[in-house]
Amino acid sequence: MEDRLKALAEEARRELSGAPDAGAVETARVKYLGKKGELSKVLGGMGKLSPTERRALGEVANSVKDEVERLLADATGRVQDAALEAELHGPKLDVTLPGRGRPPGRRHPVSRTLDEVVRVFARLGFEVATGPEVELDFYNFQALNFLDDHPARDTQDTFFVDPAWLAKRPSSPVLLRTHTSPVQVRAMLGRKPPLRIVVPGRVYRRDSDITHTPMFHQVEGLLVDRDVTFGELKGTLSAFATAFFGKGIKTRFRPSFFPFTEPSAEVDITCVICSGKGCRVCKGSGWLEVLGAGMVHPNVFKSVRYDSADVTGFAFGLGIERLTMLKYAIDDLRLMFENDARFLEQF
Ligand code: DAH
Repeated sequence: MEDRLKALAEEARRELSGAPDAGAVETARVKYLGKKGELSKVLGGMGKLSPTERRALGEVANSVKDEVERLLADATGRVQDAALEAELHGPKLDVTLPGRGRPPGRRHPVSRTLDEVVRVFARLGFEVATGPEVELDFYNFQALNFLDDHPARDTQDTFFVDPAWLAKRPSSPVLLRTHTSPVQVRAMLGRKPPLRIVVPGRVYRRDSDITHTPMFHQVEGLLVDRDVTFGELKGTLSAFATAFFGKGIKTRFRPSFFPFTEPSAEVDITCVICSGKGCRVCKGSGWLEVLGAGMVHPNVFKSVRYDSADVTGFAFGLGIERLTMLKYAIDDLRLMFENDARFLEQF
């Protein structure tokens, strides 16, 4: 057995001195020192020996094992050095090659407009408020003075949440909010006047064509205080138009109707495409409609228990996608939702 061990050591010396790479060194390690390796095989026969013979053989076996370990360490060092050497003499790194780009991500145009609108109103002293997208009919319609048979409640416009889901709330229909105006109601119910808020958020309508998507974004505004006038509404929105679109933009208020404001107005700005001369986008009028606004209706104050003898207020609502399209001269709403990197990287 001793001869066999010495022969093993000799074999390992030969094999490892010629090992070409790390793989060959690992193969040799398994072959000699592995659980089922050569050394274990020889030592497996030790049971038949007398104690004295066993001790003598054990010593030889240990020294063979030590040697093989040393040989493995040497061989590993050698193949690593060789690999490094080969790399140094291999093909050179061409530092003149252009780098591989990592295109930076960009904010979506809708997010940019949302932030910018909020920033403009923040400078005018408005705070941000938010509310749920899944809303009760009460906040979305009832408290905003929509009569029960108001056409906006029609299933044509509103996504209702399946009543079968709503066993817990049979009293008020649950829907996806069709505008950000319900947050006016939530804010007033939660706080006492004075109040000055803007509400950015998603809204939903059953509408889908070139100029409508089932989900879009609005920013709502509400200001309530003593002696708030329509003049202040005009001043505020004109200041907004100038800050957002630039100097030289004029605003125009046209009478309109919303259930929750009286009087109500639709607000136009000078056409940003033709500067008011008249073009295809403004249909020759020189004006573009950008938002709805008005003085808060007394019935709305009543439903939030504000005293309209004591306070007045104005509100407005604007569509973010529309503002974005006008600001960046984008002619197709669908581009906003297709996530085409070639479109998005232009911002
Ligand atoms: N909620 C209206 C809509 O979605 C927009 C609006 C109009 C909001 C007038 C207002 C307002 O606060 O005063 O069409």
